[in-house]
Amino acid sequence: MLSKLFRKLVDRSPNFSLKLWQLFYDFIAVKFRNQTNWKYMNYGFSQPENQGEKDLDTFSENLYRHLFNKTALENRAILEVGCGRGGGCELLLDYHPKTVTGLDFSEKGIKFCQNAYKNPSLEFVAGNAEALPFADQSFDIIINVESSHCYGNRAAFFKEVYRTLKPNGFFLYADFMGSIHYHKRPVQLSDTGFKVVSQEDITSNVVLSMDRSAPFKRQFIEKLVPKPFRKIINDFVGLPGSDIYNKLKNNQSTYFSIICEKN
Ligand SMILES: C[S@@+](CC[C@H](N)C(=O)[O-])C[C@H]1O[C@@H](n2cnc3c(N)ncnc32)[C@H](O)[C@@H]1O
Repeated sequence: MLSKLFRKLVDRSPNFSLKLWQLFYDFIAVKFRNQTNWKYMNYGFSQPENQGEKDLDTFSENLYRHLFNKTALENRAILEVGCGRGGGCELLLDYHPKTVTGLDFSEKGIKFCQNAYKNPSLEFVAGNAEALPFADQSFDIIINVESSHCYGNRAAFFKEVYRTLKPNGFFLYADFMGSIHYHKRPVQLSDTGFKVVSQEDITSNVVLSMDRSAPFKRQFIEKLVPKPFRKIINDFVGLPGSDIYNKLKNNQSTYFSIICEKN
């Protein structure tokens, strides 16, 4: 009921949606500020041949690594837009980048990251994906994972990614959207000026991850989430039976990864 109301309100107008998502992610950051070992907020990625992921983080890391393995990251200046709890930025350090900047519009989320990660190579900045607070051509790589569905104006976001990438820089992008509109996303990216290098439908990998990670999520929720909030958190984390799980499972929504190069 609460989560249905949330969805209805989010659909009302882009500005209203932005504010509501911001409040929601600020709430999550404050409520779970002491859970510094909870680093990711995406649905994850799994493959049938995986031997059994050992914990919740592994599923989310798989999704990031699916993108990270698409291009060279060593010695690159990298920005993650919508960095959430910062796990993706920390994981990037495995690839020896030059610098890593995480940006999120939840100021409380950014505070969480600044407290949780002390590595001097990581910087966390509050800001809006639709108006990035960086100079033109600042980054070699920009990453965006499961965040753009919250944006009121995705065209503005793509323009900002294009503006702040260096020539021949890469945009590594993953998210979900309604399947009937999915074919429009690469067109929108090409219209912005990008060359779309690859595009994959990874819905089955994400659904498999949702299935396999469910026992870990249920444990986490039972331990940490007060009863009145459990339904909304069950939906948020995509447990089997949740709206997003059903939509992905029934092909109403598509989870994709797209790699673009700035021409
Ligand atoms: C589902 S979480 C994913 C976080 C992270 N990428 C991960 O995979 O763990 C979506 C994130 O996008 C952020 N976000 C939503 N709208 C944003 C906007 N307009 N600008 C910047 N960040 C935004 C939220 O605050 C949230 O942290």
